[in-house]
Amino acid sequence: MNKKIRNIIRKKNKSKIVSLTAYSKSISKILDKYCDIVLVGDSMANVLYGLKSTHTISLENIIQHTQSVKKGVKKSLLVVDMPKGTYTNKTTAKKNAKKIMKTTNCDAVKIESNKKNFGIIKELVNNKIPVMGHIGYTPQFKKRFKIEGETFFKAKKLLKEALLIEKAGAFSIVLECISPKTSKLITEKISIPTIGIGSSSYCDGQILVTDDMLGLSGFYPKFVKKYVSLNRIIEKAVKKYTTEVKLEKFPKKKNFLYGTRNR
Ligand code: KIV
Repeated sequence: MNKKIRNIIRKKNKSKIVSLTAYSKSISKILDKYCDIVLVGDSMANVLYGLKSTHTISLENIIQHTQSVKKGVKKSLLVVDMPKGTYTNKTTAKKNAKKIMKTTNCDAVKIESNKKNFGIIKELVNNKIPVMGHIGYTPQFKKRFKIEGETFFKAKKLLKEALLIEKAGAFSIVLECISPKTSKLITEKISIPTIGIGSSSYCDGQILVTDDMLGLSGFYPKFVKKYVSLNRIIEKAVKKYTTEVKLEKFPKKKNFLYGTRNR
């Protein structure tokens, strides 16, 4: 097992696992200083491509963005989402996961649970492809965004799902929008780390979509904390640039190029 993955597993019950998403080198280079895990999420469909769902993002889209992200990542664990439709059976999953691993040099892939694809996780793990699971609100398989695991019956079903994912060999599981009580139960009952999004502080770690926490995406459900309103800061800069260009205040003599210089 990859040393970075062993370190993530060891953090359970010791220190919280910090994770964020990235789709490009400029962001991943900053995240790498602070995050244990950088995820190239298929949330890029909504955030970058302005699509309504994550369903149409392609394997090639994911690979291209991961190649960019990888350039900024040295120490964090780089995990890549397998897009919808790329892991429908063992053969397809193995072929596509191998392609992601080989072309991007990432550390692991993440697949969303449809409550039946435990055999696919096992197949990938048996082929030395580390897998992160994902349960609760799984956008590739669910139509409606809602809190998961609120009743005793649903909590039991989610716990069973988490245990089967652990048994299949996943090294961690994302818990998305799962009630605090159920997140606590799952985190206590499984031996691999849980990474929560909208699932309370009982999880072993947290993940957010970076564009949400930076105030760039326009998507701010209750579980997102906006740490900065980067949209306002960018707008201010763009407005100033516009004025300066119009008033011929930019470029100044000091911005003129007298020779060629590499960037
Ligand atoms: O695609 C994504 O960004 C994700 C996170 C929300 C966990 O799967």
